Amino acid sequence: MSPRRPLLAAAAALSLVALYRTAVAEPEPPAALLRGPQDFAVIADPNARSVALFGEMGKVIQSPRCLNCHPVGNRPTQTEAMRPHQPLVVRGIDGIGAPGMHCANCHHSDNFDSAHAPGNPKWSLAPAEMAWQHKTLGQICRQIQDRERNGGRSLAQIVDHMGRDELVGWGWHPGAGRRPAPGTQARFGALAQAWVDTGARCPA
Ligand code: HEC
Ligand code: HEC
Repeated sequence: MSPRRPLLAAAAALSLVALYRTAVAEPEPPAALLRGPQDFAVIADPNARSVALFGEMGKVIQSPRCLNCHPVGNRPTQTEAMRPHQPLVVRGIDGIGAPGMHCANCHHSDNFDSAHAPGNPKWSLAPAEMAWQHKTLGQICRQIQDRERNGGRSLAQIVDHMGRDELVGWGWHPGAGRRPAPGTQARFGALAQAWVDTGARCPA
């Protein structure tokens, strides 16, 4: 055997391992899991189209990536199973945690995969009036249009927040081991715009 053979064999084995890893570890492309506004053009009645568009948006809104941080009560939840946050952390003033247990102690400006900690510069708990957990999609739909409960936003500002806010955008870049929200933030924003353009109707 020439001295180069074992090297070649090792290289081949390594590339096989790499191939296997991509094949096994790559999740289904999330972009395929959210339809765009054009997919709803077949619904002629604008009211029905609006409700259907919000139903599609619900795939994102009710994903664990969003719900975990929009809990009822003072404590975020974690993981796909949305179990109570470990260690115990609470909202505190302004949603950034109690003194000594600030979110930023562990959640930095970016995901920190080796500690499995998600991160974003704006990381904090959504205010209590923006709680989405344990609510129907219809209830959430009405709540996010209510300026008393949506941070005083107009519908245009809600669309902008959905489509452009960087903390919302974290949902599609949640770090290793977490399933991203379906689709892309741009498509989610386009759905929100189409929903508003058709009258911002809500499911029952
Ligand atoms: C790390 C926590 C966190 C995550 C994750 C998060 N949010 Fe929020 N969200 C907040 C906070 C904090 C506010 C209040 C910010 C403000 O009013 O400026 C908020 C406010 C909002 C609002 C405006 C108020 C309302 O409820 O109508 C929308 C819309 C929203 N989030 C959408 C989302 C969506 C969609 C996702 C998932 C893709 C998401 N959020 C994920 C923390 C979070
Ligand atoms: C002592 C460290 C620590 C503190 C303080 C902390 N967290 Fe976490 N948090 C973590 C870790 C680690 C994870 C990842 C857990 C996992 O996925 O297994 C996490 C996960 C989360 C998640 C779940 C993200 C997802 O969708 O998977 C949310 C939401 C969250 N934290 C919000 C907060 C908020 C809001 C605060 C402040 C009030 C806070 N955390 C304070 C360590 C901390």
